[in-house]
Amino acid sequence: MTETKIKNDRAAWIQGGQAQCSSPPPPVARPFRLILLGAPGVGKGTQADLLCQILGACHLSTGDIFRAAKSLSQEARSAGLNEALAYMSQGRLVPDATVLQVVRERVRCLKCACGFLLDGFPRTVAQAEALEEILDRENLPLSGVLNFELPIQEIVDRLSGRRTCSGCKAVYHLVSRPPLVKDVCDQCGAALYQREDDQPASIRVRMNAYQESTLPLIQFYRGRGLLIPIKADGAPSVIFQRAMAALNGSAKLEKQKIL
Ligand code: AP5
Repeated sequence: MTETKIKNDRAAWIQGGQAQCSSPPPPVARPFRLILLGAPGVGKGTQADLLCQILGACHLSTGDIFRAAKSLSQEARSAGLNEALAYMSQGRLVPDATVLQVVRERVRCLKCACGFLLDGFPRTVAQAEALEEILDRENLPLSGVLNFELPIQEIVDRLSGRRTCSGCKAVYHLVSRPPLVKDVCDQCGAALYQREDDQPASIRVRMNAYQESTLPLIQFYRGRGLLIPIKADGAPSVIFQRAMAALNGSAKLEKQKIL
């Protein structure tokens, strides 16, 4: 069992280019390479944080790359990133070509010896096919695709109550995971904010985009024998236990027992 004591800043993934992570997780003998699938707000980021601590893999979220780009000046961003931010603020999917360019620039993160948890990518069949091509070329087989399932109304409640730390990006919820002091991060003391795309109008657009573009990925990965369904109701710790049990019970992951 590998436990990550110091949180990796994921600089190589977030900034791209020549950036180096401040504390990359140590290599593991059998790295997990997982995709976290599920509707916006189902809890993928929350579960990624928990899974990373046990699996030693790195949390690679495409949404985090775009949100980090927001804090750069407009001139410092590429035309593609400026375009991505415009789509994102409306809750629409960023065009495949832009997303794929951003991911291809970060292929070294997919090759990382600690493995990865992809969160928010792929989101369309075109992205899934492109990822498959990259992973095949680099000889990096996927361990599985965890698909988190929850009724839409519960997902909307999770999104509307989400608050994110402006400093360390820790995620809270007004009801299920409130901070100790209102609007202040427990971990670093920075202010909490509500994501622009968590407003009701954007949530509706994101749910539609999920249903039209991302749902077909369930069939895509089921067809490849990689899909691992996880019920996402209940507390984060309960869902995490289900995910761990499913990983341990997966025939495909026979050589990667964790607990
Ligand atoms: P992205 O950042 O990927 O957002 P998302 O998929 O919409 O997912 P979220 O981060 O909103 O939710 P989550 O599932 O991680 O839930 P969380 O753990 O935070 O993408 C944002 C945008 O970027 C997209 O809309 C698009 O524009 C663009 N984009 C990114 N990647 C793209 C791609 N590949 N292609 C095209 N466009 C792309 O939890 C949510 C809340 O619920 C939190 O408050 C949390 O505390 C709470 N919670 C979590 N678990 C539980 C629980 N078990 N019980 C109660 N509350 C819970």
